[in-house]
Amino acid sequence: MTTRHNRIQIMHGVNLDQIGRRDPQHYGGITFLKLERAIDAFAADLGLDARFFQTNHEGEFVEHLHRLDEVADGVIVNAGAWSHYSRAIGDALAFAGVPAVEVHLSDVMARERWRHMSVLSEHCVATITGKGVDGYREALVALRGKLRT
Ligand code: DQA
Repeated sequence: MTTRHNRIQIMHGVNLDQIGRRDPQHYGGITFLKLERAIDAFAADLGLDARFFQTNHEGEFVEHLHRLDEVADGVIVNAGAWSHYSRAIGDALAFAGVPAVEVHLSDVMARERWRHMSVLSEHCVATITGKGVDGYREALVALRGKLRT
């Protein structure tokens, strides 16, 4: 059931829609459709109402963050490569007005140096990396604890 305070926006950024074509060593070979379905099932299990948004355009991602407080009570963000350098997304997240959890499917700290830094983490209540699809379940649990009741 959808109550006022359980709407979770799942925001995927650049190249996440192509996840099924990307290195299975890092992304497990899962398709984007299956990823969204798995997150939806995790959310339903936890009594949360997941909604999905993906874009490859940074401005669209920012504008969606601008409107977020009208449509969601919490947000899970996997902004892909933008996570590592987009101060614009970080700024928008800072005033989005809902709690955010950052997720990365892959273990970014075990990859190239440029992936070690996230400019979004400081605006998030938690950052979960390297746990694949299960990282989203963990993010939903973390977010559930931060929702207004
Ligand atoms: C990613 C990690 C990023 O470094 C990368 O650019 C992505 C996906 C992840 O989910 O592991 O596109 O965010």
